[in-house]
Amino acid sequence: MAKPKVVLGVSGGIAAYKACELLRRLTESGHDVRVVPTDSALHFVGEATWSALSGNPVSTEVWESVHEVPHVRIGQAADLVVVAPATADMLAKAAHGLADDLLTNTLLTARCPVVFAPAMHTEMWEHPATQENVATLRRRGAVVIEPAVGRLTGVDTGKGRLPDPAEIFEVCRNILNRHGLARGAAAAPDLAGRHVVVSAGGTREPLDPVRYLGNRSSGKQGYALAKAAAARGARVTLVEANTGIADPAGVDVVHVGTALQLREAVLKAVADADAVVMAAAVADFRPAVYAAGKIKKKDDGGAPTVELVRNPDILAELAADRALPGQVVVGFAAETDDVLANGREKLRRKGCDLLVVNEVGERKTFGSEENEAVVLASDGAETPVPYGPKEALAETVWDLILPRLRSTT
Ligand SMILES: Cc1cc2nc3c(=O)[nH]c(=O)nc-3n(C[C@H](O)[C@H](O)[C@H](O)COP(=O)(O)O)c2cc1C
Repeated sequence: MAKPKVVLGVSGGIAAYKACELLRRLTESGHDVRVVPTDSALHFVGEATWSALSGNPVSTEVWESVHEVPHVRIGQAADLVVVAPATADMLAKAAHGLADDLLTNTLLTARCPVVFAPAMHTEMWEHPATQENVATLRRRGAVVIEPAVGRLTGVDTGKGRLPDPAEIFEVCRNILNRHGLARGAAAAPDLAGRHVVVSAGGTREPLDPVRYLGNRSSGKQGYALAKAAAARGARVTLVEANTGIADPAGVDVVHVGTALQLREAVLKAVADADAVVMAAAVADFRPAVYAAGKIKKKDDGGAPTVELVRNPDILAELAADRALPGQVVVGFAAETDDVLANGREKLRRKGCDLLVVNEVGERKTFGSEENEAVVLASDGAETPVPYGPKEALAETVWDLILPRLRSTT
């Protein structure tokens, strides 16, 4: 079988050296990679490195090998184009359709999925010009991976760092897997242009400065959902509680601790969201009183009584009071007995569109890499998802959300 053809565009950012690692991962996993750097990129990493690592010729401009019409052919033949790092300049050119070198020509001729991994100083990233260019590219179906937060060039830190090459590679591989390699397959990933919100992890309700009421949710299912949506082109906001998992590439992560904080962050994020998936285990109750000092053992051998109060039901609130008409609301229910009957009752009570019902068991749900579930829909449809990786369940959930999304045309 022919190797999938990937164009690796490299523009002139300090992170260009990290694209060597991405290139290595792509070639070692069986992709035929054509590197198309910009002239500026060659100030950071030379042509010889790209050519030797890819095993393909390297050019920055349209005037070489003109008989092969490379400014058209490279883009036409590609199964995926990934630009990493994508400079502010490159995002602007791509958004406006400029074509003054080989990479910008390739971006105009490509009909396959296109991924941009921007990297720049925080000020450049946050500038309205860059943000509007990113919004334009996303609206047209490109996947623009959110930059990471961390050390930038020199002494600066902030948002704008190129995500880890391993994560960019994972996004690319997921997109290639999903789209198959059929030429002419739909260029835009199916969640492109959508904003989705996912919650993950388990809330912790503080009792005193050293203790909390918590639960065993690891957050892995929520992260699988967030990563899958990003790979399918969505802008993803992940509200995570106490998972300790590294922020995934291409996802905007909001870190929270308690149920009330999670509620606030989710309500803020859903204002312009097409769908919200509540995979987090949110505490139903919290201690009525937070003790400012550590609660001490009593001399009489007795134990304190902890009074609890109800937390708000975020899922029911999201479903009853949708931020946008047609917003899709999805919940999760972990049950120990009468799983389906309880699930159907919960779906009715909460008023959400889909409810992913899973049984808490030995090798599934909390902390495990695998899950098994039935997805119940408000129209009565029931979709069993067999025991398997949480990533597979995540894809099924998005497959079921997709036809329910409001029309954007
Ligand atoms: C040392 C140095 C580091 C730079 N790093 C970045 C960067 O990380 N991101 C960015 O958008 N521009 C960066 N620039 C500016 C770009 O190189 C400049 O905008 C250039 O015109 C980009 O050209 P290109 O988009 O064709 O590659 C850097 C410039 C220098 C001199």
